[in-house]
Amino acid sequence: MEMRFKITRFAPGVDEKPYYKEYGLEAEPGERILDCLNRIKWEQDGTLGFRASCGHGVCGSDGMRINGRCALACQKLVKEYEGEEVVIEPLPSFKVLKDLVVDLDPFFEKVRLMKPYLIADGAPPARERLQAPEESKKVDVAIRCILCACCMGSCPVVNENEQFLGPAPLVWAFRFIFDSRDSRSLERLKAVDYPDGAHACANYFECTRSCPKEISVTKYINRIKREIQMTLNEGEK
Ligand code: FES
Repeated sequence: MEMRFKITRFAPGVDEKPYYKEYGLEAEPGERILDCLNRIKWEQDGTLGFRASCGHGVCGSDGMRINGRCALACQKLVKEYEGEEVVIEPLPSFKVLKDLVVDLDPFFEKVRLMKPYLIADGAPPARERLQAPEESKKVDVAIRCILCACCMGSCPVVNENEQFLGPAPLVWAFRFIFDSRDSRSLERLKAVDYPDGAHACANYFECTRSCPKEISVTKYINRIKREIQMTLNEGEK
């Protein structure tokens, strides 16, 4: 298939503003958009900047906007864009470092604030912290998050308010608030109970639509809000 690409190029300090550059190549329907980007870089234009590593939807490093939707380039196939020009842009709402490479540090900092690790008080068990299957089921989808930031790039609230904690950090909060082995649920709930925390989510569902791991992000944020209402607000009455 003859494929046409329009890719955002921008080198801060060199270019005055971002611009699109066009590329074309022959690709097989089963090839991934990431394969095309690699070939463009290796065969046509070595200056093109983008991130990628595993190539299999595991590392989360190739989040970008492809024809208006945030996605992993390694999960999108050429055949999905048959007959279309493929427009590839960096994840919205992030500072661009080079072309499709964005600065993810502020995002990772928000995730870090969620203390994304199990905190279990008491003496550690001899072998492992066991969990009943029905308890593990409550969080086993949230565990899939690979921190690709596609949800952050898609979220209209993040786009307008950079103070908003954002969908992925809230997924990590959810993952431990509802983990039966964690001892800090209350502390974790309080950490997201502020106007730019869980309450800023306006239910656009764009995060859920864009998540490459099919996590029900919006549903989990609403579950956190309900838990705040039941545990913190009700407790104050
Ligand atoms: S390259 Fe690792 S998720 Fe796509």
